[in-house]
Amino acid sequence: MATRLIIVSNRVAIPDTRQHLAGGLAVAVKAALRDRVGVWFGWSGDISDQEATAPRRLKRGRVDYAVIDLSEADYQEYYNGFANRVLWPILHYRVDLQEYSRADQSGYMRVNSLFADQLDAIIEEDDVVWVHDYHLMPLARELRARGRVNPIGFFLHIPCAPPDILATMPNHEEILGSLVHYDLVGFQTDNDRDNFAHYLTSLGAKPVRSASFTLDGRTTRLGAFPVGIETAVYARLARNAVRSRFVREMVESLNGQKLMLGVDRLDYSKGIIHRLNAFDRFLEVNPEWRSRVTYLQVTPKSRGEIREYAQIENEVTTLISKINGRFGEAAWTPVRYVNRSYSRTALAGVYRAADVALVTPLRDGMNLVAKEFVAAQDPENPGALILSQFAGAAAELDGAVIVNPHEVEGVAAAIKQALEMPLIERRDRHGPMLARLRDHTVDQWSDSFLTALGETRQRPSLIEGLRAMFGASA
Ligand code: UDP
Ligand code: G6P
Repeated sequence: MATRLIIVSNRVAIPDTRQHLAGGLAVAVKAALRDRVGVWFGWSGDISDQEATAPRRLKRGRVDYAVIDLSEADYQEYYNGFANRVLWPILHYRVDLQEYSRADQSGYMRVNSLFADQLDAIIEEDDVVWVHDYHLMPLARELRARGRVNPIGFFLHIPCAPPDILATMPNHEEILGSLVHYDLVGFQTDNDRDNFAHYLTSLGAKPVRSASFTLDGRTTRLGAFPVGIETAVYARLARNAVRSRFVREMVESLNGQKLMLGVDRLDYSKGIIHRLNAFDRFLEVNPEWRSRVTYLQVTPKSRGEIREYAQIENEVTTLISKINGRFGEAAWTPVRYVNRSYSRTALAGVYRAADVALVTPLRDGMNLVAKEFVAAQDPENPGALILSQFAGAAAELDGAVIVNPHEVEGVAAAIKQALEMPLIERRDRHGPMLARLRDHTVDQWSDSFLTALGETRQRPSLIEGLRAMFGASA
């Protein structure tokens, strides 16, 4: 039987759906699965209180999509509750936003067990299983309890906070400690990996071999695998998209003003309020820039049933009105706000047309928007990137103007610096960043993770199978 790759994630980019998926996981996994044989299993995005049956299947090329609905209770307790009101804030260093309840934790465990039951009927002996993100941490333990001995890897797309922060989560050992049931646990950066290694040590795990730890009789390997993008494909998409009617009309509407761009899910981790305050300060102290720059903020709604997300939506809207009221003119609106998601093509064209991108999360696992912006630029006349030091991407994109998003004056000064940056400096900064993105693509990310997963078993036949399947670099 041939080796298949079974991808498991809460969110699945189901083909043929009209909705544009805004979220790094779906974008990265979709790219990683291109031209590969496998199954992508997860939540359909629908709620249904019918008794759980077999997953709905859809075959596209060599990928078999298998999705299940969640019940209303599962959706509230597992997704809105434990995953997004406990794990998301904690892992993003926001202990203050944690809203723990035992009911939510048991809903989280219930859905992980449901996923394991469904997967148990799908997985075959030679399959390699790759689980993605914080929704599914205990899944390997559940699968092992069902007798599954397949190689199982886990990748965390979001940051990993230091042990003292992780330990504020009630029963953290049960959830985070269960990651030792994976053969390999991957993180976006060295810092995230090291935080988790310290956490495991605090639970009493012992280091064995390089980068591996043993706890309760299980050995797991940790590694940093920064997620990339389809650099060449994206650059081509942007070159073509900038000529589209959609982008041409947008550029015409600017009447020669510079375009500054922000693209983020409407999430408190993205630092949108801090950034708007910085733009307000920039306009206040640089009156010569008024009527000469437009800031376009593309912000699709996200997790709208959670209080903090509804609050941030109100705050962003209010602040934008305030800035537009304070500085706007009959012929100039300082901030344009789009509260829905753009297609991949439209976004690529907008990136290419922009002079500056403002990517200033308070904390972010990677931030693919920063990488897409770099890939989309014209290398002869590239735009400038302003990037938070707290985005995983900052470890790679050192040609950006790196800022601390908490310092309003610093970000305001960076906006001025980016808007006024001479062409030669823009090229000098952009060239090495583009080269890095060409060398570290999304394919390289998945190849290196899967090769490392194969190595954990030290099964030559498996490694050979993975090499054949995942490309020459594996
Ligand atoms: N995205 C999109 N349309 C939008 C906004 C975002 O397709 O209107 C995509 C964007 O191109 C990127 C992903 O959503 O690939 C966002 O990933 P990122 O890592 O920046 O942040 P996340 O949303 O995962 O926190
Ligand atoms: C981030 C997370 C993903 C998630 C995405 C969109 O990228 O790492 O796991 O899918 O946000 O969030 P959503 O809650 O809509 O799936």
